[in-house]
Amino acid sequence: MTTLGTPLSPSATRVMLLGSGELGKEVLIALQRLGVETIAVDRYENAPGQQVAHHARTITMSDPAQLKALIEAERPHLVVPEIEAIATPMLQELEAAGVVKVIPTARAARLTMDREGIRVLAAETLGLPTSPYRFCDSLAELQAAIDGGIGYPCIVKPVMSSSGKGQSKIDGPADVQKAWDCAMAGGRVSHGRVIVEGFIDFDYEITQLTVRALGADGQVQTHFCDPIGHVQVSGDYVESWQPHPMTPAALQKSRDIAKAVTDNLGGQGLFGVELFVKGDQVWFSEVSPRPHDTGLVTLCTQHQSEFELHARAILGLPVDASLRNPGASAVIYGGVEAQGIAFDGVDEALRVPGTDLRLFGKPESFLKRRMGVALARATDTDTARANAKLAASRVRPRRA
Ligand SMILES: Nc1ncnc2c1ncn2[C@@H]1O[C@H](COP(=O)(O)OP(=O)(O)OP(=O)(O)O)[C@@H](O)[C@H]1O
Ligand SMILES: [Mg+2]
Repeated sequence: MTTLGTPLSPSATRVMLLGSGELGKEVLIALQRLGVETIAVDRYENAPGQQVAHHARTITMSDPAQLKALIEAERPHLVVPEIEAIATPMLQELEAAGVVKVIPTARAARLTMDREGIRVLAAETLGLPTSPYRFCDSLAELQAAIDGGIGYPCIVKPVMSSSGKGQSKIDGPADVQKAWDCAMAGGRVSHGRVIVEGFIDFDYEITQLTVRALGADGQVQTHFCDPIGHVQVSGDYVESWQPHPMTPAALQKSRDIAKAVTDNLGGQGLFGVELFVKGDQVWFSEVSPRPHDTGLVTLCTQHQSEFELHARAILGLPVDASLRNPGASAVIYGGVEAQGIAFDGVDEALRVPGTDLRLFGKPESFLKRRMGVALARATDTDTARANAKLAASRVRPRRA
């Protein structure tokens, strides 16, 4: 039995989000609707999720002392990581001491915090198909790994980075130095370790959203959303749609891989499993133990969006992962470097049939910062993609 309390009272069910960007904001809204008391944490003030939570806290989440002090002061029932750059060993310590429950588990947050933990788990422990890969700590090691079997073309990524930062493709020997320098400049922490992966010449890539939620018998059950197709530019998502057509064999393999990874990571919540597909062949790429950016499309395609699914699953509530209608999402970038920007053309954007919009409310815009997303539902994904892109193009961010 799940009991929920009243926010801002002694009975409150209290949930802390570590990271309060656009994805966290939607999780927070879903929690607010269930009367959960929310604490939105980020590294800067007025982050999107902080604008819709009961409490806003600003700390350096990668600093174990600051993280511990905040969790001990707030004593939330659940801690929900929304980003990777968190002092996850401290979360493990606090979870082991019974201070807090981490979603889905502190171990999952730690394993997925960098590319090494999760890749070793997937490829070596679970034996799942992945691109060939090696970890390297120097330019010389990188060259040796390529010559020793990874070959060309290949992709180099900092072990700790996301959204394609520091990532580049190597087509031949002339690109190796450049790729190393790019990784060193783009990694989140400057410890200089990279992964080099053989390039997979896939037909398409999908996100398999997978939910671990309690059934009526109190046991965890696994639910699968319809596959989400997406386009990445320089390692960053620009467009996604649902459903993406797949052969029955590829779909089955995708779900088997997603089940194996999420069973191992355990706990309750929604996961975004990233997969590459060629014909009936499927490779595991990576997994987020939380809502996925390409899953923003579920705000207009599913009865329960990935954010509502996450909120329900972590609270021990039943979920419905089914599709309502086809749809698509298209990212709106800042396009300017400025604080407190304005968005022209919102009315024109929303005149495109079946569309909706999320403007995240980020206090500062960068050229390539994701500031919003256009959503479109339609009877087929081709129409939805065209309409989402059209609506996104009609929103014109500018200096205020
Ligand atoms: N081995 C590979 N072969 C071919 N393409 C790849 C490979 N690795 C990555 N890519 C491409 O680059 C994209 C980003 O890679 P990856 O997901 O590893 O980076 P990321 O920085 O974690 O991105 P995000 O945080 O946005 O998920 C992939 O979605 C895929 O399009
Ligand atoms: Mg990715």
